[in-house]
Amino acid sequence: MISFSEAVQKLKSGEVVAVPTETVYGLAASIYHPQAIEKVYALKKRPLDNPLIIHVAHPSQVESKQLPPDFDKLTGAFWPGSLTLVLEVDESKIPFRARAGLPTAAFRLPNHSIAQELIAETGPLVMPSANLSGKPSATCAEHVEEDFASLVPVLDGGVCAQGVESTVLCFHEGAWEIIRLGCISAQSLQEVLGYAPKLGRKGDKPLCPGQMYKHYAPKAKLHLGGHGAALIGYQNRFYPPVERFYSLGTSEDPREVMQNLYRVLRQLDRDGVEEAFVDMDIPSDGLWETIQERFLRASSHFK
Ligand code: TXA
Ligand code: MG
Repeated sequence: MISFSEAVQKLKSGEVVAVPTETVYGLAASIYHPQAIEKVYALKKRPLDNPLIIHVAHPSQVESKQLPPDFDKLTGAFWPGSLTLVLEVDESKIPFRARAGLPTAAFRLPNHSIAQELIAETGPLVMPSANLSGKPSATCAEHVEEDFASLVPVLDGGVCAQGVESTVLCFHEGAWEIIRLGCISAQSLQEVLGYAPKLGRKGDKPLCPGQMYKHYAPKAKLHLGGHGAALIGYQNRFYPPVERFYSLGTSEDPREVMQNLYRVLRQLDRDGVEEAFVDMDIPSDGLWETIQERFLRASSHFK
């Protein structure tokens, strides 16, 4: 654990620091330190073709060639917050590594005072989720330490309020599309945009490179539905007795479930559980869509 001023100093001198945000912890590097960004990829064991999100402290730090329609509406409604927007960038203004060599980059202004104050001091930071590639994301400082031990200093900001990653949008063929489901629902976006953004795909490939990889998975094998010795379910439901019960909170509140989701997945591995069954009898609209998708990816279907 390190102090705020140590984190500022380390980031400015090209080191990697784990930083709290309202969604999940991020593994931060300055966009101006390519070697630090390469270290982020190496630490996470993340493929180099999977681009990172650039986190800003103010919308004026967004460097875009041409802002797509409704950019101001979206940022006005959801920034600071858990919405990431992929934009075409001026390649001379965003260093190569910070955009994985692409002509686009993803931007977000996190709704977390420590993250905002930090970025105000350091300038824009790339931050993928602070977990080993493929593993459940980290929603508290201990989770980061579980994955990286002493390799990464952590700026502790407590438990993340949202618990699931930001929703990622890109503007494609005249409309915004969701390229990663997250903690802002399609319904909330519809209220601002006037239309519901579709889940974007390019032929059979997702538009978001990260979606091609296995994700969010514990070592334990997850079964969607069914019943066995270890059960992941809801505290307000009745289940036949099991050896181990992991509560996601109540089935009435998807926000509470999102907050608990990665902690529960990580707890399976801490307990040495080899297989667990997930109660998937939940709705598929609103934020439940995100929860369904995270379980689907964490389950054996993607292994
Ligand atoms: O909530 C979050 O978004 C967290 C916190 C730390 O801010 N960050 C996070 O980053 O989830 P990461 O790297 O785990 O996920 C970023 C996603 C990846 O799936 C990546 O492929 C996509 O955003 N992405 C980034 N830049 C992109 C681009 N230019 N075009 C398409 N997708 C992009
Ligand atoms: Mg991630």
